[in-house]
Amino acid sequence: MKKDNPKAYIPALKYHWLTRFYDPLVASGLQEKKMKMHLINQASIRSSELILDLACGTGTLAFLLQQTHSGIQVTGIDADPQILAIAKEKMKEKRAKGIVFKEGFSDQLPFSAYQFHHVFTSLFVHHLTLEKKKETFEEVRRVLKPGGQFHILDFEKPQNGWMRAAFLPVQFLDGFETTSTHVKGIIPALLKETGFAAIEETRQFSTILGTLRAYKAYKP
Ligand SMILES: C[S@@+](CC[C@H](N)C(=O)[O-])C[C@H]1O[C@@H](n2cnc3c(N)ncnc32)[C@H](O)[C@@H]1O
Repeated sequence: MKKDNPKAYIPALKYHWLTRFYDPLVASGLQEKKMKMHLINQASIRSSELILDLACGTGTLAFLLQQTHSGIQVTGIDADPQILAIAKEKMKEKRAKGIVFKEGFSDQLPFSAYQFHHVFTSLFVHHLTLEKKKETFEEVRRVLKPGGQFHILDFEKPQNGWMRAAFLPVQFLDGFETTSTHVKGIIPALLKETGFAAIEETRQFSTILGTLRAYKAYKP
């Protein structure tokens, strides 16, 4: 990622040519469905609500949201047009209707304020520098309705030495600048700093790539 380019981003597996392997890798290595269903189940979603899947990647979470809740409107946004093309193709194969995919950056969301009831994001925050993490959380706060919920799943403080070692391959791939804050645990403090309330860690997962933690917070 070139630091001086505000439109730079880290693709799902750092190199575009690896993107095609993303789904099989995450599905088998990270207990993907179990973790994403946990994130969905921690949300109190009502029909007709508007949901944003931030940095949606290949659209798996958006698809699970739409499958489990009838009547909701799901928008997936991602900076990478290549992964969005995979997401759209996947939805066509699954005959999933009603999910809108949009290209855009997390720190400049192309949505008006107070638009969404819930914002979900999984396996994404560790792709951002500290400055971009803050700008992104501020953007999420802007687009959420008052009382809206922010649901996050990401690599965070390892539970033990094994989990710390397991996270190293992710750091080598995605970069130490964006991931090192996650080793100490950064998400709850960032949520607090950017004005979220009732911040709660809802679950921890041990995976072959380290500890993942799920969080829930509200826009006051
Ligand atoms: C590891 S993937 C996670 C994808 C998906 N959320 C999941 O759980 O499988 C990280 C995603 O973040 C996207 N991304 C990276 N930087 C971004 C940014 N600044 N704004 C929006 N998307 C970004 C990448 O294109 C990639 O699809």
